[in-house]
Formats: sequence, structure tokens, C-alpha cells
Amino acid sequence: MLLGLVSGEADAQSLLGAREWLPPGSLSLENLSQRPAERLEEGRNFYVAFGRLAFRSPDILGGTARKAGLSCQACHANGFATHAFFIPGLSDRPGRIDVSHAFWHLRGEDQRDNPLDIPSLRGVKTKDRFGHDARTASLRDFTRRVIVMEFAGDEPDALLLDALVAYQEKLRPVDETPQPVTLQQDLADILDHLDALRVPLGEENVALAGRIATMIRGQLGFIHERFADEDMRGSRAALEDWSRQLVGIAMLAENGQWPQARQHLATLRNAIAAPPSALAADLPRSLYDPARLKVWLNTPAR
Ligand code: HEC
Repeated sequence: MLLGLVSGEADAQSLLGAREWLPPGSLSLENLSQRPAERLEEGRNFYVAFGRLAFRSPDILGGTARKAGLSCQACHANGFATHAFFIPGLSDRPGRIDVSHAFWHLRGEDQRDNPLDIPSLRGVKTKDRFGHDARTASLRDFTRRVIVMEFAGDEPDALLLDALVAYQEKLRPVDETPQPVTLQQDLADILDHLDALRVPLGEENVALAGRIATMIRGQLGFIHERFADEDMRGSRAALEDWSRQLVGIAMLAENGQWPQARQHLATLRNAIAAPPSALAADLPRSLYDPARLKVWLNTPAR
């Protein structure tokens, strides 16, 4: 656990996990190198911030989705539909997927080959029916069904559902503007997630602090994977160190050392806001570079 990013449940993988657990042909250069700009309504609170993190965290799901490092974000990138999402055997066209399939959850298998369009979640706040057959009248119920029945996740608690609903309701119904996936944005997101962690540290809530720290470590794991070469030691070590710092913060919380935990978080936040130069130096050779990523995608796994 302490060794962090290389193994264990916090290792939420988008590249490596997907390569291991999804059929060949599931990873798309387009999905991994571009994302629509996020654009949220004004007025963010902790629920929105925690929901935003949970939306990107495979560990709220179970089964294959979790192992493959897929989160809500994989199919609904920044709340839009991921048009290029395609899993051979479960998709008939890009942007469509069978979500009632034993591949995800044995209990959800409906004995039908029925891929559905992945919808954009933009503007869900104003909808009163959800799903292609308008079967559900509540966003909260639909979200619970997605987690538990489609993707074999544990029963979500009230806070997790409140947060996921709060985030989804902030998704402004705007046009899609594709943006490159960048280290800069991913690090800015980590800072945003760290701000969410301030709340349970202020409330002195051990369980929630641990849970959020674990989710943030998962997000750091995604960044770590992009620095794939063993010789990118400086970059990999920095990311692993930050992940370890989060374990340290969770441990301080567990020991009731709240002022130290809060101090440690502030220090970590400063470190990530001024990242070591190794990261920038390795960036052109990392999998943030679309050309490198393309080569990586075309290189068969071990
Ligand atoms: C593997 C891809 C995939 C993942 C992962 C996924 N979804 Fe979806 N989502 C879909 C598909 C396909 C539909 C259409 C289902 C239907 O119409 O019944 C859908 C529909 C929805 C809808 C209904 C929208 C509407 O306007 O009717 C909501 C809300 C939603 N998803 C939220 C989520 C949340 C929250 C998560 C994470 C907990 C998530 N989804 C994860 C593919 C996915």
C-alpha cells in the first residue's frame, strides 16, 4: 500500500488497466489525447468537487470497469458523450456500448446484444426522465443503477450519490470544444481535488479523508502511466512521492493528528503547484505526446 502507485487498489489505470482488461482495439488515440473542455455552472461547493473526483474514479465501480480503470469520465468525457468509445464485441459503432452485459456484471446480463448510444450528460439537470427508454425519473436513482447494476460497484452511500448528482447538475449544456489532454490540466485537476480533501480534514472525518486521498492517488496513477519509460525516473519518483504523501496525510488523519494533516496537505499542494523540472523535461517523450501515445498504442502488450 505504501509503495503506492505500482500496485494495489489505488492504481486506477486508464492505459495499462485498459490494455490488460479490455479486448485489443479498445483504446483510442482520440479518446486518450483529446477531451471536450469541461465548462461547469457557477457556484461550486464540496459536493460538486467530490462528485467531480468520483466521476473520474474507477474505484466507485466494480468488476471489469474498475479493473480496466474505466470511470464515468471514460464514457462521458467531462460530461459529454465520448464519441470514439468502442469496445470490440460490446460496441457496434463508436460511441455506442452494451451496458447490460456480463462483461461488466454477471447480474446485469440481459441476454441481448444491445449497444446503446452513450448520451451527453450536459443539461441533465433539466431532464425529468433518464435512459433510452425513459425508465427512471430521478438522476440519483439512475446514477445508483449505473454503479450497482451496470458496473458491479458497491452500494453507494448517500454522500457519494449527492456528490455525483451535484456534479452532473453543474454540467452546462454548451457546445463541445475539443482540447488536448495535457499534463498542465491534469495537475490543475489534482490541485482541485486536493482542495476537496481540505473539507474532511477540516471536519476531522477520518473515513472521508482516507477515501478522497485514495481517489486522488488513483488520479496521480493516471498521470504516472503517461511517464511510461523506466528512464523517466525523476518524473515517476515525484509522482510516487506525492502519492505517498497522500498516504501520509490519511495516516495522520487516522492518528487524530489533524493540524499536522492539514499542514501536510498545504505543503503537498505547494509542491504540486510548482512541479519539479523533470516533469517538463520528460513531457515531450511522455504519453501526453500524441505521437508517442500512438506508438505506444500500436506496440503489443508483453
Ligand atoms: C462504459 C460506458 C459508460 C460508463 C462507464 C458510464 N456510462 Fe452512463 N451511460 C452509458 C450509456 C450507453 C448510457 C445510455 C443508457 C440508457 O439509455 O439506458 C448511459 C446513460 C447515462 C445517464 C442517462 C442520461 C440521460 O440523459 O438519459 C446518466 C445520468 C449516466 N449515464 C451517468 C453515468 C455516471 C454517473 C457514470 C459513472 C458512475 C456512468 N454514467 C458511467 C455509458 C456509460
